[in-house]
Amino acid sequence: MSSTLSFVLGTRPEIIKLSPVIRSCQRYDVPFSLIHTGQHYSDELDSVFFEQLELPPPEYNLAVGSSSHGEQTGEMIVGIESVLEEERPDVVLVQGDTNSVLAGTIAATKMKGIEVGHVEAGLRSFDREMPEEVNRRLADHAADHLFPPTETSRQQLLSEGLADDRITVTGNTIVDAVTQNVEIAHERSSVLAELGLESEFGLLTAHRAENVDDRERFVTLLDGVARAAREQDLLVVYPIHPRADKWVSEFGIDVPAEIRLVEPQDFLDFLVLEDEATIVFTDSGGVQEESCILQTPCVTLRDNTERPETVEVGANRIVGVESESVVEGVREILGVGPNWENPFGDGTAAKQILDALEYDQA
Ligand code: UD1
Ligand code: UDP
Repeated sequence: MSSTLSFVLGTRPEIIKLSPVIRSCQRYDVPFSLIHTGQHYSDELDSVFFEQLELPPPEYNLAVGSSSHGEQTGEMIVGIESVLEEERPDVVLVQGDTNSVLAGTIAATKMKGIEVGHVEAGLRSFDREMPEEVNRRLADHAADHLFPPTETSRQQLLSEGLADDRITVTGNTIVDAVTQNVEIAHERSSVLAELGLESEFGLLTAHRAENVDDRERFVTLLDGVARAAREQDLLVVYPIHPRADKWVSEFGIDVPAEIRLVEPQDFLDFLVLEDEATIVFTDSGGVQEESCILQTPCVTLRDNTERPETVEVGANRIVGVESESVVEGVREILGVGPNWENPFGDGTAAKQILDALEYDQA
């Protein structure tokens, strides 16, 4: 079987952010195949999004599961290579900065006749301790087609010596995903009632290795969020990623009473929570973007961001995890009120990507 385009994906954010591109392929009759690495495999991080976003089931699932970086990435490369031998697409598309992205890029780039396109190229935190920073840099430098979301990320690619004729600024496909789903989310979701969120609330996500794999830092982070919540008189809902959940148990962390742990949410419920929250606390990349798009103030529980546009427009403050800084950041951003431009494009990123790859579209 031969398809024109193969998507390599494996985690929650890749499924969500590639969904508009997959839909565009369906709409414009571009033959495609889905290669799922299996990096995420729990229903609430994986199949729930295929179902809710009405995506076709992947033709291939490599089921690599969780392991060390080397083992996980290595297993993926072997599996993806053998699928690509059979599938022989013209282009492999990867999105973002996960190990699945690195593996898809390495496997495809060495195969004759197959080009690689990197969606969400050019993001940099300049923090080489983050596995994601390594993944995104390597993917950008190996890819044939680079799709940065903004002019800032295009300039970064140029400054690293990457050729301008490989680069197309498209906006971020998350704008497509949010605009395609936010109204549906408000119509269908009953998450506010289910969680008993009748008054103002905050929304927390924290899953990044550097925050949750270290007991002291994780406890400090939770304490900072709890203090800000007390000051603002908010309950904070925390849909907890399995990685963080595992560490809460293993470290025996007593989560402060201001923070309510709930299961990871599906996309529609999560969009409603983000849209209705008074404030978002996060270390997620996608959540920084979505809160900016939805005009919900955000504080980022990290020391840096690869999404500086959110800070520049006034939607986001980088506060780290120390209590004083979290409390102060929340005070500041709530003091200003939401009224900023969305820097991530007009929601046509998926179409622009297919256009740049020169797929004929009606
Ligand atoms: C990965 C990405 C991260 C991204 C995140 C999105 C890398 C290096 N990290 O982090 O950039 O922000 O996905 O959510 O690629 N687990 C489950 N079920 C699953 C998957 C994971 O329970 O379906 C648990 C396991 O305990 C596993 C841990 O989460 O050991 C970490 O999973 P892994 O895929 O290695 O990294 P994420 O933290 O999910
Ligand atoms: N998300 C979700 N349910 C949740 C938490 C997040 O649907 O309980 C979505 C969110 O809307 C965003 C994406 O997951 O589109 C972000 O993924 P994540 O934070 O896991 O990864 P990152 O963006 O940091 O790589």
